Amino acid sequence: GLAEEPISRANSKPVAMEGSSPFSGSRKEESSLSIIIVGASGDLARKKIFPALFALFYEDCLPENVTVFGYARSKMTDEELRNMISQTLTCRIDKRENCGDKMDEFLKRCFYHSGEYNSVEHFAQLDCKLKEKEGGRSSFRLFYLSIPPNIFVDVVRCASTSASSKNGWTRVIVEKPFGRDSESSRELTKCLKQYLAEDQIFRIDHYLGKELVENLSVLRFSNLVFEPLWSRNYIRNVQFIFSEDFGAEGRGGYFDNYGIIRDIMQNHLLQILALFAMETPVSLDAEDIRNEKVKVLRSMRQLQLEDVMVGQYKGHNKGGRTYPGYTDDPTVPNDSLTPTFAAAALFIDNARWDGVPFLMRAGKALHTKRAEIRVQFRHVPGNLFKRNFGTDLDKATNELVLRLQPDEAIYLKINNKVPGLGMRLDRSDLNLLYKARYPKEIPDAYERLLLDAIEGERRLFIRSDELDAAWSLFTPLLKELEEKKIAPELYPYGSRGPVGVHYLAAKHNVRWG
Ligand code: NDP
Ligand code: BG6
Repeated sequence: GLAEEPISRANSKPVAMEGSSPFSGSRKEESSLSIIIVGASGDLARKKIFPALFALFYEDCLPENVTVFGYARSKMTDEELRNMISQTLTCRIDKRENCGDKMDEFLKRCFYHSGEYNSVEHFAQLDCKLKEKEGGRSSFRLFYLSIPPNIFVDVVRCASTSASSKNGWTRVIVEKPFGRDSESSRELTKCLKQYLAEDQIFRIDHYLGKELVENLSVLRFSNLVFEPLWSRNYIRNVQFIFSEDFGAEGRGGYFDNYGIIRDIMQNHLLQILALFAMETPVSLDAEDIRNEKVKVLRSMRQLQLEDVMVGQYKGHNKGGRTYPGYTDDPTVPNDSLTPTFAAAALFIDNARWDGVPFLMRAGKALHTKRAEIRVQFRHVPGNLFKRNFGTDLDKATNELVLRLQPDEAIYLKINNKVPGLGMRLDRSDLNLLYKARYPKEIPDAYERLLLDAIEGERRLFIRSDELDAAWSLFTPLLKELEEKKIAPELYPYGSRGPVGVHYLAAKHNVRWG
C-alpha cells in the first residue's frame, strides 16, 4: 500500500506541478505527515534533526498537519522532550523576528514515546499515538533512524510490522555508517530490504545536502565556460580536502571501529567526486543522476596501498594548553592503529579522466576546519608570459576552488597584469563569496535532505548500487591496511597533518592547494 507520487516543494516549488502533493492544494486538509525520530535522545537528533525540522516549520515548508514524534528508550515526557529541543532550536533561528511564537507552535507539535528498539509492541503503542494525531486523515510517515547501526534492522522490522502507514507512504531515513565493508553493507541492505522496498529507504549522506555540493552540477552544466574544460585535456588534478580542527573526542567508541577512510572518504568525499566527474545525466531526475554516479564509480580503479597514506594525531601542548592524542581517549585502545588522517590518489579509467589524479585528504585534529574541492588546470601551452612571472610557473596555472565550508565560496585563480608601466604578472581571484552575494543564511544540509525525503525526491540520497560501488573501491584497501597492521604516521594535534601527505602528492606530480 505505498502511494509514491511526486510532491511539490511548498515554498520554492521547483519541480512538480501545483496540487500533485498530498500536502498541497485541495488534498492538504485530508493528509497528515508524521515524522518519527528514532534515537531522539541522542546527539544528532538534538543538534541537527530537530533544529532542521524547526527551520522548515519556520519557513512554512512543512504541511499543515505535521506531527513530530521522538522515540528512544530514555524515559521522557512530552514536556521534557520539548525542553530538550528548545535548547538547540535557537541555534539557527534566533536572529529572526517572531521566532518565539513559531517555536511554541512547533513545540506543540512535538511528542515523545519511550520504547525499546526491538519491541513490536512498543511500536504498536507508538502507532496508536500516531493514529490519534493523524485523526483519520491519510497518513504519511517518515522515520528517521538516528541510532547506532547495530539496531537499524530491529527498528525497521518493528516499525514496518506495527507502525507503518496503512493508507499513505512510509519512508525511512538511514544514517551512515552503512556497514564497514562491502560484505557488511550488503548484509545491511539485504536485511533492510526484507522489510522495505528500495524506494522507501533514504540513505543520507549529509554532504550531498550542502549548498555548494548542490551547486556543483549547476556550475558544470549551466555555464558554457566550465564543462568544455572538464576533462583530462585541461585538468591536471582534482583535490577533495576535508579537515577538522577537533579530534574524535567523545566519539572514540564509534570512530575506532571505522576510522577516517570510512567516516569521511568512502562516503562524503567520494560522493562529491562522483558528482564532479560524472557524465552529463539524461535529466535532473534522481535515477538519471544516480545512474551517472554509479557509472563513474564503477569506472574507478580499486585503491592500492601505495596510493594511500594514513596518519593519527598525537597529544600536543600549545599555548599552555594540552591537546589529547587519539589513543588518550579512554574508549580507544592504547595500541589502536585507526587512522584519523588519510590521503589517497584515485583514478578514473574512462576516456574523460584517463591519467588524472583525483586526490583526497581527510583529517581530524588539524589546524583548521575546511572542506574544499580544488581543480588545478594544466599549463598554458607555449606561454608567452613565461618570463614575466616572478615566481615559479607551476604556481601560475589556473585553479578553481569550491569552498564548501566554512564561508562558502567559488573562486577562480587567474593571471593578470600588475597595473603600471611594466609587465609583471600577478595572480588574483575571481571570487564569488556567498555571504557577500547572498546575505540570507544558507540552510543546513539536514533541512534540504529532510524536505527532499518528505517530497520523495531521491536525487540526494544514496541508492544501494551506488553504495555497493563505493564499498568495492575501498574494501580491499581497508582489509589490507588492517591485515598488514599499517602504522599511521603520527602528527601533532592542531598541526597541518603528517608530512607523508606531500610525498604522496609529489608521486603524482601534485602540489596540494
Ligand atoms: P548516539 O550515540 O547519541 O545515539 C542516539 C541514541 O541511540 C541514544 O540517545 C540512545 O538512546 C540510543 N543508543 C545509543 N547507543 C545505543 C546502543 N548501544 N543500543 C541501543 N540504543 C543505543 O548517536 P548520534 O545521535 O550521535 O548519531 C545517531 C546516528 O547518526 C548514528 O548512527 C551515527 O553514526 C550517525 N551519525 C551521527 C553524526 C553526528 O554528528 N552525531 C554524524 C553522522 C552520522 P536511548 O538510550 O534513549 O535509547
Ligand atoms: C560525519 C562524520 O559524517 O561528518 C563526523 O561522522 C564529521 O566525523 C562530520 O565530524 C562532519 O560534518 P560537517 O557537516 O560538520 O562537515
